[in-house]
Amino acid sequence: MKIHILGSAAGGGFPQWNCNCRNCDGIRKGTVRAVPRTQSSIAVSADGMNWVIVNASPDILVQIRATPALQPGRASRDTGIAAVMLMDAQIDHVAGLLMLREGKRLPLYCTASVWEDLNKGLPVASVLMHYCGVQWHPVDAQDAAGSARRFTIPDIEGIRFSALALKSKAPPYSPHRQCPQPDDNCGLLIENMATGRILFYAPGLGEIEPHIETAMRSADCVLVDGTMWTDDEMIRMGLSGKTAADMGHLHLSGPGGMIEVLDALESRRKILIHINNTNPILDEDSAERATLARHGIEVACDGMEINL
Ligand code: MLT
Ligand code: MN
Ligand code: ZN
Repeated sequence: MKIHILGSAAGGGFPQWNCNCRNCDGIRKGTVRAVPRTQSSIAVSADGMNWVIVNASPDILVQIRATPALQPGRASRDTGIAAVMLMDAQIDHVAGLLMLREGKRLPLYCTASVWEDLNKGLPVASVLMHYCGVQWHPVDAQDAAGSARRFTIPDIEGIRFSALALKSKAPPYSPHRQCPQPDDNCGLLIENMATGRILFYAPGLGEIEPHIETAMRSADCVLVDGTMWTDDEMIRMGLSGKTAADMGHLHLSGPGGMIEVLDALESRRKILIHINNTNPILDEDSAERATLARHGIEVACDGMEINL
């Protein structure tokens, strides 16, 4: 099973077009040692030919160009993208759907709440009905009480998926922004049925509920929310009035932070994704990046491959 990181940044990417924080300014001027990153998305395949894209980033066309395996070229019009799955209805995870409009009817796997957002708050699905059309496959996310329902995707042979409802945030335009639904946001277990190896993927993760901890423990590799180093990072930099928690992201450092959560796991690999451009871990020479290394935690970059 191959997991290809198409994009590893949070909304806005890195550097962000209008941002002059230390990282964004520094990467432009060459004074900060870091690599640019597109907005978060992964591609998963068993055979290296047929892929499911998990989250469709606004940068999807650039990501496809950078990933020849997604364009096998077997016919005059062709793609290696067999389906798209969504973890939420945030702009940085769904805007790329519009870029796939020239293709065939798109198989789309998401929860009922995300599907509702895509037909109301940000009606990408309604718009696409005038182009390629979308075939919705409802995903039933396991909540704290239930057990995970495994499912497979046609053409993605040998891989089993299960979605877990988790606490993050519905987007500002969602009809449920003020009345959160359990399936507004989810994480994903991706299992190679031949080897039994499991990846846990959650680019937006606000709280480690017991069923999420169990899922993380079951995984050989965790690929999780690394948006911000501190909860008030954007406020202290004068860039936003929102904390990481306000946006549905658990910060990395300090008591109760993601580093502490990851320290308690025995997973072979622990990797952070959905990194906000303000996060000091993007600077490869930073003390924060060295702290991650001491904890055995990696930072995803675009083009990274995970084989499980
Ligand atoms: C988030 O996860 O909070 C988003 O990256 C916000 C956005 O896309 O604007
Ligand atoms: Mn995001
Ligand atoms: Zn920035």
